[in-house]
Amino acid sequence: MTAVSCKGVTKTFGEGSAAVQALRGVDLEVKEGELLLIVGPSGSGKTTLISIIAGILHHDGGECTLLGEDIHGMHNGQKGAFRGKNIGFVFQAFNLIPMLTAAENVSIPLLLNGVSRHDALKKAEGFLENFGMKDKINAYPSELSGGQQQRVAVARACIHDPKIIVCDEPTSALDAETGSHVMEVLREYVLKDNRALIVVTHDSRIFSYGDRIVHVEDGVIKEG
Ligand SMILES: Nc1ncnc2c1ncn2[C@@H]1O[C@H](COP(=O)(O)OP(=O)(O)O)[C@@H](O)[C@H]1O
Ligand SMILES: [Mg+2]
Repeated sequence: MTAVSCKGVTKTFGEGSAAVQALRGVDLEVKEGELLLIVGPSGSGKTTLISIIAGILHHDGGECTLLGEDIHGMHNGQKGAFRGKNIGFVFQAFNLIPMLTAAENVSIPLLLNGVSRHDALKKAEGFLENFGMKDKINAYPSELSGGQQQRVAVARACIHDPKIIVCDEPTSALDAETGSHVMEVLREYVLKDNRALIVVTHDSRIFSYGDRIVHVEDGVIKEG
Protein backbone atom coordinates (compact mmCIF):
# COMPACT_ATOMS: atom_id res chain seq x y z
CA MET A 1 0.00 0.00 0.00
CA THR A 2 1.06 3.59 -0.56
CA ALA A 3 1.87 5.27 2.77
CA VAL A 4 2.05 8.84 1.50
CA SER A 5 0.90 10.33 -1.79
CA CYS A 6 1.41 14.00 -2.66
CA LYS A 7 0.24 15.36 -6.01
CA GLY A 8 0.89 18.93 -7.04
CA VAL A 9 1.09 20.11 -3.43
CA THR A 10 1.54 23.88 -3.07
CA LYS A 11 1.94 26.09 -0.02
CA THR A 12 2.33 29.86 0.22
CA PHE A 13 3.08 31.72 3.45
CA GLY A 14 1.96 35.32 3.82
CA GLU A 15 0.15 37.52 1.32
CA GLY A 16 0.77 40.11 -1.36
CA SER A 17 4.31 41.36 -1.68
CA ALA A 18 5.33 39.45 1.48
CA ALA A 19 4.15 36.09 0.09
CA VAL A 20 6.66 33.23 0.08
CA GLN A 21 5.83 30.26 -2.12
CA ALA A 22 7.41 27.48 -0.04
CA LEU A 23 6.08 24.58 -2.17
CA ARG A 24 5.44 24.93 -5.90
CA GLY A 25 3.83 21.62 -6.85
CA VAL A 26 5.33 18.64 -5.06
CA ASP A 27 4.73 15.12 -6.36
CA LEU A 28 5.89 12.39 -3.99
CA GLU A 29 4.94 8.79 -3.26
CA VAL A 30 6.28 6.84 -0.31
CA LYS A 31 5.52 3.15 0.02
CA GLU A 32 5.02 1.15 3.19
CA GLY A 33 8.33 -0.36 4.26
CA GLU A 34 10.29 2.41 2.57
CA LEU A 35 12.92 4.60 4.17
CA LEU A 36 12.99 7.85 2.22
CA LEU A 37 15.55 10.59 2.76
CA ILE A 38 14.75 14.18 1.78
CA VAL A 39 17.69 16.49 1.26
CA GLY A 40 18.03 20.05 0.02
CA PRO A 41 19.35 23.47 0.93
CA SER A 42 18.06 25.50 3.85
CA GLY A 43 14.81 27.27 2.94
CA SER A 44 13.98 24.88 0.08
CA GLY A 45 10.70 23.72 1.69
CA LYS A 46 11.65 20.47 3.47
CA THR A 47 10.07 21.27 6.84
CA THR A 48 6.97 22.69 5.16
CA LEU A 49 6.56 19.50 3.11
CA ILE A 50 6.89 17.05 5.99
CA SER A 51 4.65 19.20 8.21
CA ILE A 52 1.93 18.91 5.55
CA ILE A 53 2.54 15.16 5.24
CA ALA A 54 2.16 14.82 9.03
CA GLY A 55 -1.03 16.92 9.04
CA ILE A 56 0.52 19.67 11.20
CA LEU A 57 0.17 22.25 8.43
CA HIS A 58 -2.39 22.56 5.61
CA HIS A 59 -1.42 22.88 1.96
CA ASP A 60 -3.32 25.31 -0.22
CA GLY A 61 -3.31 23.36 -3.49
CA GLY A 62 -2.95 19.80 -4.75
CA GLU A 63 -3.62 16.56 -2.89
CA CYS A 64 -1.95 14.80 0.01
CA THR A 65 -3.20 11.43 1.27
CA LEU A 66 -1.89 9.15 4.02
CA LEU A 67 -2.64 5.42 3.86
CA GLY A 68 -5.20 6.32 1.21
CA GLU A 69 -7.02 8.81 3.45
CA ASP A 70 -7.33 12.56 2.95
CA ILE A 71 -6.62 13.67 6.52
CA HIS A 72 -6.72 17.32 5.50
CA GLY A 73 -10.42 16.89 4.72
CA MET A 74 -11.18 15.41 8.16
CA HIS A 75 -12.59 17.43 11.03
CA ASN A 76 -10.26 18.09 13.95
CA GLY A 77 -11.27 15.22 16.24
CA GLN A 78 -11.09 12.70 13.42
CA LYS A 79 -7.76 14.06 12.23
CA GLY A 80 -6.33 14.00 15.76
CA ALA A 81 -7.34 10.38 16.21
CA PHE A 82 -5.86 9.39 12.83
CA ARG A 83 -2.60 11.19 13.56
CA GLY A 84 -2.40 9.82 17.10
CA LYS A 85 -2.65 6.29 15.76
CA ASN A 86 -0.73 6.45 12.50
CA ILE A 87 1.86 9.21 12.59
CA GLY A 88 5.04 9.84 14.57
CA PHE A 89 6.83 13.17 14.17
CA VAL A 90 10.29 14.28 15.29
CA PHE A 91 10.50 18.08 15.34
CA GLN A 92 13.70 19.84 14.37
CA ALA A 93 13.64 21.54 17.81
CA PHE A 94 12.77 18.26 19.65
CA ASN A 95 9.78 19.90 21.47
CA LEU A 96 10.17 17.90 24.69
CA ILE A 97 8.05 18.91 27.68
CA PRO A 98 10.45 20.38 30.29
CA MET A 99 8.63 19.25 33.43
CA LEU A 100 8.38 15.63 32.34
CA THR A 101 11.16 13.03 32.54
CA ALA A 102 12.56 11.34 29.44
CA ALA A 103 10.34 8.28 29.99
CA GLU A 104 7.27 10.43 30.63
CA ASN A 105 7.92 12.44 27.46
CA VAL A 106 8.24 9.24 25.43
CA SER A 107 5.05 7.79 26.92
CA ILE A 108 2.81 10.73 25.86
CA PRO A 109 1.56 9.25 22.55
CA LEU A 110 0.56 6.05 24.39
CA LEU A 111 -1.27 7.95 27.13
CA LEU A 112 -3.14 9.89 24.43
CA ASN A 113 -4.15 6.54 22.91
CA GLY A 114 -5.59 5.37 26.24
CA VAL A 115 -2.74 3.11 27.44
CA SER A 116 -2.35 2.99 31.24
CA ARG A 117 0.44 5.07 32.80
CA HIS A 118 2.18 1.96 34.12
CA ASP A 119 2.23 0.17 30.75
CA ALA A 120 3.12 3.36 28.87
CA LEU A 121 6.13 4.07 31.09
CA LYS A 122 7.31 0.49 30.86
CA LYS A 123 7.24 0.53 27.08
CA ALA A 124 8.88 3.98 27.03
CA GLU A 125 11.73 2.72 29.17
CA GLY A 126 12.30 -0.18 26.77
CA PHE A 127 12.41 2.18 23.79
CA LEU A 128 14.84 4.53 25.54
CA GLU A 129 17.04 1.54 26.29
CA ASN A 130 17.09 0.61 22.57
CA PHE A 131 18.35 4.10 21.84
CA GLY A 132 21.18 3.82 24.38
CA MET A 133 19.42 5.95 27.03
CA LYS A 134 18.86 3.41 29.81
CA ASP A 135 20.60 5.51 32.47
CA LYS A 136 18.60 8.65 31.54
CA ILE A 137 15.01 7.43 31.76
CA ASN A 138 14.30 9.57 34.83
CA ALA A 139 16.26 12.62 33.68
CA TYR A 140 14.50 15.87 32.75
CA PRO A 141 15.21 17.46 29.35
CA SER A 142 17.32 20.19 30.98
CA GLU A 143 19.62 17.46 32.32
CA LEU A 144 20.16 15.98 28.87
CA SER A 145 22.57 16.94 26.11
CA GLY A 146 21.17 17.93 22.70
CA GLY A 147 21.94 14.47 21.37
CA GLN A 148 20.18 12.79 24.29
CA GLN A 149 17.11 15.03 23.87
CA GLN A 150 17.10 14.13 20.20
CA ARG A 151 16.99 10.43 21.02
CA VAL A 152 14.08 11.00 23.43
CA ALA A 153 12.26 12.80 20.59
CA VAL A 154 12.90 9.90 18.20
CA ALA A 155 11.73 7.33 20.78
CA ARG A 156 8.56 9.40 21.38
CA ALA A 157 7.83 9.41 17.63
CA CYS A 158 7.94 5.58 17.47
CA ILE A 159 6.45 4.49 20.79
CA HIS A 160 2.84 4.15 19.60
CA ASP A 161 3.83 2.00 16.59
CA PRO A 162 2.70 4.51 13.93
CA LYS A 163 2.59 3.41 10.28
CA ILE A 164 4.33 6.61 9.16
CA ILE A 165 7.25 8.24 10.96
CA VAL A 166 8.47 11.65 9.87
CA CYS A 167 11.74 13.07 11.22
CA ASP A 168 13.16 16.56 10.70
CA GLU A 169 16.96 16.27 10.91
CA PRO A 170 16.93 13.52 13.58
CA THR A 171 20.71 13.15 13.77
CA SER A 172 21.79 16.80 13.62
CA ALA A 173 22.90 16.87 17.28
CA LEU A 174 24.43 13.38 17.30
CA ASP A 175 28.02 12.27 16.81
CA ALA A 176 28.64 9.87 13.91
CA GLU A 177 28.44 6.71 16.00
CA THR A 178 25.24 7.64 17.85
CA GLY A 179 23.67 8.95 14.62
CA SER A 180 24.33 5.60 12.92
CA HIS A 181 22.96 3.75 15.92
CA VAL A 182 19.73 5.79 15.90
CA MET A 183 19.31 5.17 12.16
CA GLU A 184 19.93 1.43 12.63
CA VAL A 185 17.28 1.20 15.36
CA LEU A 186 14.84 3.21 13.22
CA ARG A 187 15.57 1.12 10.14
CA GLU A 188 15.01 -2.18 11.93
CA TYR A 189 11.80 -0.85 13.46
CA VAL A 190 10.50 0.33 10.09
CA LEU A 191 11.33 -2.90 8.26
CA LYS A 192 9.91 -5.15 10.96
CA ASP A 193 6.34 -3.92 10.56
CA ASN A 194 6.36 -2.43 7.08
CA ARG A 195 6.19 1.16 8.27
CA ALA A 196 7.24 4.16 6.20
CA LEU A 197 10.00 6.45 7.42
CA ILE A 198 10.66 9.89 5.98
CA VAL A 199 13.81 11.62 7.15
CA VAL A 200 14.82 15.17 6.29
CA THR A 201 18.56 15.46 6.66
CA HIS A 202 21.71 17.40 5.84
CA ASP A 203 23.77 14.62 7.36
CA SER A 204 25.67 12.84 4.57
CA ARG A 205 26.82 10.25 7.12
CA ILE A 206 23.34 8.71 7.17
CA PHE A 207 22.62 8.78 3.41
CA SER A 208 23.45 5.07 3.15
CA TYR A 209 20.41 4.21 5.34
CA GLY A 210 17.91 5.47 2.76
CA ASP A 211 16.21 3.22 0.21
CA ARG A 212 15.79 6.37 -1.87
CA ILE A 213 16.91 9.98 -1.69
CA VAL A 214 14.90 12.86 -3.13
CA HIS A 215 16.15 16.42 -3.47
CA VAL A 216 13.97 19.40 -2.67
CA GLU A 217 15.00 22.56 -4.47
CA ASP A 218 13.11 25.81 -4.38
CA GLY A 219 9.82 24.17 -3.45
CA VAL A 220 9.84 21.27 -5.92
CA ILE A 221 11.17 17.70 -5.83
CA LYS A 222 13.96 16.56 -8.08
CA GLU A 223 14.41 12.79 -7.93
CA GLY A 224 18.02 11.73 -7.91
N1 LIG B 1 5.47 30.00 9.16
C1 LIG B 1 6.10 30.59 8.12
N2 LIG B 1 5.81 31.87 7.77
C2 LIG B 1 6.42 32.47 6.72
N3 LIG B 1 7.33 31.87 5.93
C3 LIG B 1 7.67 30.60 6.22
C4 LIG B 1 7.08 29.90 7.34
N4 LIG B 1 7.61 28.64 7.38
C5 LIG B 1 8.50 28.58 6.35
N5 LIG B 1 8.53 29.75 5.66
C6 LIG B 1 9.34 30.02 4.45
O1 LIG B 1 9.12 28.99 3.52
C7 LIG B 1 10.34 28.60 2.87
C8 LIG B 1 10.60 27.13 3.16
O2 LIG B 1 10.87 26.95 4.55
P1 LIG B 1 11.16 25.53 5.21
O3 LIG B 1 10.13 24.58 4.75
O4 LIG B 1 11.31 25.75 6.67
O5 LIG B 1 12.57 25.14 4.54
P2 LIG B 1 13.68 24.08 5.00
O6 LIG B 1 13.09 23.19 6.03
O7 LIG B 1 14.03 23.37 3.71
O8 LIG B 1 14.84 24.86 5.51
C9 LIG B 1 11.41 29.52 3.43
O9 LIG B 1 11.56 30.60 2.53
C10 LIG B 1 10.83 29.97 4.74
O10 LIG B 1 11.34 31.23 5.10
MG1 LIG C 1 13.76 22.77 8.02
